[in-house]
Amino acid sequence: MIMIDDLGLARAVHVLALVHWIGGLAVVTTIVLPNARGLPDAKDAIAAFEGFEQRFASQVRISILLAGLSGAYMLTRLDAWNRFQYASFWWLDLMVALWLLFALMVYVLEPFVIHRLFHEFALHNKDRAFALAIGLHAAALIISAFAVAAGVLGALGELP
Ligand code: HEM
Repeated sequence: MIMIDDLGLARAVHVLALVHWIGGLAVVTTIVLPNARGLPDAKDAIAAFEGFEQRFASQVRISILLAGLSGAYMLTRLDAWNRFQYASFWWLDLMVALWLLFALMVYVLEPFVIHRLFHEFALHNKDRAFALAIGLHAAALIISAFAVAAGVLGALGELP
């Protein structure tokens, strides 16, 4: 019989949630936004972006929740909350900082503020609005990729 312990399961949930979340971020950044930006009409460009973004936003609210819950579960199960006291666990600090930033964005700022602001900005100046959106998404993607690599190496005990 195959036995998977609860810690292994939490780890699998953590990684699956990250695959969905960061993978979706990569698709938005490198495919959806550039594709929308290339459309000549601002209304078409906004519709192309929002059509994807609305669906992905509701999915990623679930994967971000699961990533956070599974991470907190692992810390509790490993009795490892004290790791935040040690500089050598900087990769864990990075994970949590990134998580807080994204959580603030998808649960609060995007639905209540940024969605409307972007819509108006893009109607007035499509090229600048999309250039800004692509730049910010690219920065988030690069930091996320770095955090994933640091998380894998850190969990293996291979980071200074
Ligand atoms: C509240 C947020 C988070 C908490 C509490 C958390 C906590 C943890 C813990 C406790 C581990 C296991 C470490 C070990 O085995 O020693 C882990 C693994 C990992 N975390 Fe997080 N994490 C969070 C968010 C994130 C985010 C945002 C990312 C990436 C962007 C991330 C990427 C990873 C990776 C790649 C691993 C290694 C998985 C493996 O190799 O099995 N985590 N996390």
